Amino acid sequence: MPVSIKQLHPLFAAEVDGVDLARPIDEATHRALDDAINRYSVIVFHGQKLDDDQLLALGRRFGSLAPPRKLRSGQRLKYAEVADISNVNMQNELRRRDDHRRLDALGNQLWHSDASFRPVSGALSMLHALIIPPTGGDTEFADLRAAYDALDDEMKTTVDPLSAVHTIFHSRGQLGHADYTEAERQALPDVRHPMVRVHPGSKRRTLYLGSHASHIAGWPMPEGRLLIRDLMEHATERRFVFTHKWAVGDLVVWDNRCTLHRGRRYDDANQRRELRRVTTQDLETINDNPEVLAALVALEAVAG
Ligand code: OGA
Ligand code: MN
Repeated sequence: MPVSIKQLHPLFAAEVDGVDLARPIDEATHRALDDAINRYSVIVFHGQKLDDDQLLALGRRFGSLAPPRKLRSGQRLKYAEVADISNVNMQNELRRRDDHRRLDALGNQLWHSDASFRPVSGALSMLHALIIPPTGGDTEFADLRAAYDALDDEMKTTVDPLSAVHTIFHSRGQLGHADYTEAERQALPDVRHPMVRVHPGSKRRTLYLGSHASHIAGWPMPEGRLLIRDLMEHATERRFVFTHKWAVGDLVVWDNRCTLHRGRRYDDANQRRELRRVTTQDLETINDNPEVLAALVALEAVAG
């Protein structure tokens, strides 16, 4: 069956049919999917059934995988690279209201770009739904290339040369969740990323920000935070937003380099929601960030 593509929103997001993602992906299909991702930023597949090995294989077909942060709760799933996007604890029960992992994961309900708090941030995320609550728990996406295009020239000139300082502790801190040890904080130091980047697959310019973006490098703290808030408000206007309503078997791929996303609330004390995600590393866009590149070179030198 040939790959068929149907656009889901006036600006971005598309549904893709005719691909079984559980099976190895041939060259032609890989190219078609790559093109679709570069054009639509978010692609939605229905009726998929992937175990963790198949999800891992799918992710690796598109890049090197970055394992998610190590969390206190321990690892429930077979592979460190498969992120456990669920409300379930190690005992396979719904997490308690005050569970540290739950409080941390609530941060996914703020607009963000996966792993923007890391020197090598996220490129493609692939999220697969296993169990979905009867209501709520949608995932929303915002188109950052369209948002950049819609800025006026004066704002483009202002933002173009800026870099933002990203840290996971800013996104969690915004929700008043600051219960992290000194060792946990030291493991994830601040990183800087340019606020405007060229999306490698399309050569279009895009904003790059999100809940981990704390302030603007070289600017007074409140001034930078205000600008980030203004830009976030702009980028997440409803005209730039696509909402995905999950069904079991859905698999959504999004490009973190040119979109934001957020989970929406649901009755997580009573309803199970289980999804699994892999995320590839953005090893391309970092080339326009000399600071991150230098850090990587230094790391490689240490690693020998
Ligand atoms: C993610 C994420 C939101 C959701 O998996 O990266 O932010 O709706 N998920 O679960
Ligand atoms: Mn996310």
